[in-house]
Amino acid sequence: MNVLVIGGGAREHALCRALSLDPDVTALHCAPGNAGIAQVAQTHPVDQLDGGAVAELAVALGAEFVIVGPEAPLVAGVADAVRERGIPVFGPSGRAAQLEGSKAFAKDVMAAAGVPTARSYVCTTADEAATALDAFGAPYVVKDDGLAAGKGVVVTADLQAALDHAASCERVVIEEYLDGPEVSLFAVTDGTTVVPLQPAQDFKRAYDNDEGPNTGGMGAYSPLPWADPKLVDEVMETVLQPTVDELRRRGTPFSGLLYAGLAITSRGVRVIEFNARFGDPETQVVLARLKTPLNGLLHAAATGRLADFPTLRWREGAAVTVVIAAEGYPEAPRSGDPITGLAEAEAADGTAYVLHAGTVLADDGAVLSAGGRVLSVTATGKDLPQARERAYAATARITLAGSHHRTDIAAAV
Ligand code: AMP
Ligand code: GLY
Repeated sequence: MNVLVIGGGAREHALCRALSLDPDVTALHCAPGNAGIAQVAQTHPVDQLDGGAVAELAVALGAEFVIVGPEAPLVAGVADAVRERGIPVFGPSGRAAQLEGSKAFAKDVMAAAGVPTARSYVCTTADEAATALDAFGAPYVVKDDGLAAGKGVVVTADLQAALDHAASCERVVIEEYLDGPEVSLFAVTDGTTVVPLQPAQDFKRAYDNDEGPNTGGMGAYSPLPWADPKLVDEVMETVLQPTVDELRRRGTPFSGLLYAGLAITSRGVRVIEFNARFGDPETQVVLARLKTPLNGLLHAAATGRLADFPTLRWREGAAVTVVIAAEGYPEAPRSGDPITGLAEAEAADGTAYVLHAGTVLADDGAVLSAGGRVLSVTATGKDLPQARERAYAATARITLAGSHHRTDIAAAV
């Protein structure tokens, strides 16, 4: 099958890497891609927010299947534009992607479906925000209603900082603080049938010990040895299936990847957020462990055939990913710096490899940083300590001036 992936981050590199290992995939394209993706797929420039341009590219390449990676094109309706050309797409319609595109919409769906989540108020004025913050008390949780690449959320004990963030957004969701460890659970769905993947944990804060600002994610690991073995079944029953059923009932079926960001609180599992696409960096560790060929699974979802899909198979052992971020990330990342040691970081036996996020290839063949999160180094092992050791050994071989990464990914498990 001739497959086109839209996007150019580490998630798309992980997807392309897995697709390139699937015997079903005879041609692999990615647009726009990045310097690392270019090693496993043919890359093409495209404005990924322009549905018409993406659909034209898919037709021109003879793509038989399109996978849309990031949220911004999904919310912009890129999957709809490609589907209109008769090509199957993995990724929800623009309307269904509102589950991620609007936190207020997601809250409405959850309320209708009886899905457990934090109590919340949607606020558009400073007075409303002040009243809501007062009602919940500290720590305060203030979320920009729209897409903000994981950076629209402020969790703080400082009332003024909470008010300031609310004032800087047009519309915010203010909600009760959820205590407890976070879990990311992905499910592949065709709008009716839901197939959960394995849970992972992401590290959202920029610095060690969960200090610093929220980011898109600084590292991840899977499996979660501390999690209740019944967690996935419980989330399927209380969160994933009811949400998919509710969206279908509304006439906006969700097909693609439903990402549940969960807090395991003392009062039970609560949804922190939904995303309408694979999470980054959790995808890197989840796909490292998935044995079932990826293309068949995603294509079955895109064509409404998941009910007949064989049970997923998983590799034994564990996977850890460490994100290398540019100097200044997340506030003001610096770009254009050369990266060295990439080949040295790859293990000959495939147990450690580098996935590119914000990179470009210079004319002289050098790989340059070109984004906030620059690389994600992924490793597998017989257990988490071994995967972690391999991930950090590989990270140590890479040089990027001013870069930073967390040193405590999967350390406390
Ligand atoms: P979100 O973009 O909604 O996933 O939020 C980003 C991060 O902010 C989450 O991963 C949590 O670490 C934190 N967060 C969001 N909502 C809450 C909440 N209600 N209580 C505690 N932390 C939260
Ligand atoms: N890692 C969090 C996200 O993808 O939104």
